[in-house]
Amino acid sequence: MFNPALVNRFQQIETPFYYYDLELLKATLKACADASFRHRFLVHYAMKANFNPRVLDTVQSFGFGADCVSGNEVLAAINHGFKKEKVVFAGVGKSDKEINLALDQDIFCFNAESVQELDVINELASAKNKTANIAIRINPNVDAHTHHFITTGLEENKFGINIWELPAVAEKLRQCQNLNFLGIHFHVGSQINDLSVFQNLCLKVNEIQLWFQEQGFTVKVLNVGGGLGIDYFLPDKNSIVDFESYFQVFKDHLQISPSQEVHFELGRALVAQCASLISRVLYVKNGLKKNFLVLDAGMTELIRPMLYQAYHQIENLSRQQSAISSQQSAMNHEPLTPQTSNLISYDVVGPICESTDCFRTDVALPESERGDLIAIRSAGAYGEVMASGYNLRDRVQAVYSEG
Ligand code: LLP
Repeated sequence: MFNPALVNRFQQIETPFYYYDLELLKATLKACADASFRHRFLVHYAMKANFNPRVLDTVQSFGFGADCVSGNEVLAAINHGFKKEKVVFAGVGKSDKEINLALDQDIFCFNAESVQELDVINELASAKNKTANIAIRINPNVDAHTHHFITTGLEENKFGINIWELPAVAEKLRQCQNLNFLGIHFHVGSQINDLSVFQNLCLKVNEIQLWFQEQGFTVKVLNVGGGLGIDYFLPDKNSIVDFESYFQVFKDHLQISPSQEVHFELGRALVAQCASLISRVLYVKNGLKKNFLVLDAGMTELIRPMLYQAYHQIENLSRQQSAISSQQSAMNHEPLTPQTSNLISYDVVGPICESTDCFRTDVALPESERGDLIAIRSAGAYGEVMASGYNLRDRVQAVYSEG
């Protein structure tokens, strides 16, 4: 991914910054579009994963819809050209202001997460003489086998409506004149690489849609959420997710009638691999037991390792380049430099005044020096968008492969 010309380009740029490989983004989007269109599945991009303007424009250009979780996301989606009839508004705590905004924008659908929310949307829609399309987010109690902090589909989680509350939901939907029931919505968690989790989800969706049909409802939309994981360990080898196998699970296990639509809300799988956080080594601290690389990026630029113990591949681009030039010198029968052969164990840490500000411990890297460029890979999802201004840090910049 990082050829010497690119590393030379990085040398000229102030760090830290996110580097976006827009060609890889487009190739990923195309793979997903091809695999989903084949089954007539509709994908709404979960824009919480990355709402960088260039990323949004690129995702939109492939015809995907938008899955939004705030009024501002709804507005950003529409401003970036996502069609209103492909904008979905989800979230456990939609404020009245946000619901009104989405009603004014005539979005496709609200994913409602509680019986109380149905009342509120109905009331606000009625005041505007409008009818809001509703999908009911149901908590299917399916274990996503992912990190505890990004599991959402268990009964103990705050998300969605539990199965025992469905009779009350059906009653409420019958009463609310300004709601139009469209279908059912699920999302069991994120970074799921075990496809059997999605198979289990399909079985639950089949049971629940049958229940709604038995109550006399037409279930037009089956929204199965997002959650497909990526390979954080081998970002170059597996740069594009196997979308074919993922969608095939739903084709094989979901009961879909010809009049129904199947919707997905993928975030991470579309954008994670297209970006890296590029940083410089500020200081090398050699301790008695530990060596530290202190970077100019920290938890304020990428918080995933600190928040979820998430693994990201870390590479020293400056030494890679010398590794390449050393290969060239070897080909020219010149001696290898010691830099290229020495691997040292470092704790790679940020500059923030928090002990948790550590990207990874015991990372084997070539012997590194102040000024070396470090890439933290697979940072396109929940990276730039989760950056914060803690310690009054500069806002992290973005650099693109094009333009
Ligand atoms: N739909 C709903 C209702 C969601 O809550 C989410 C993500 C998605 C779709 C998209 O999930 P994806 O396809 O990206 O897995 N910040 C965490 C991940 C939080 C996910 C929140 N919900 C991380 O960095 O791992």
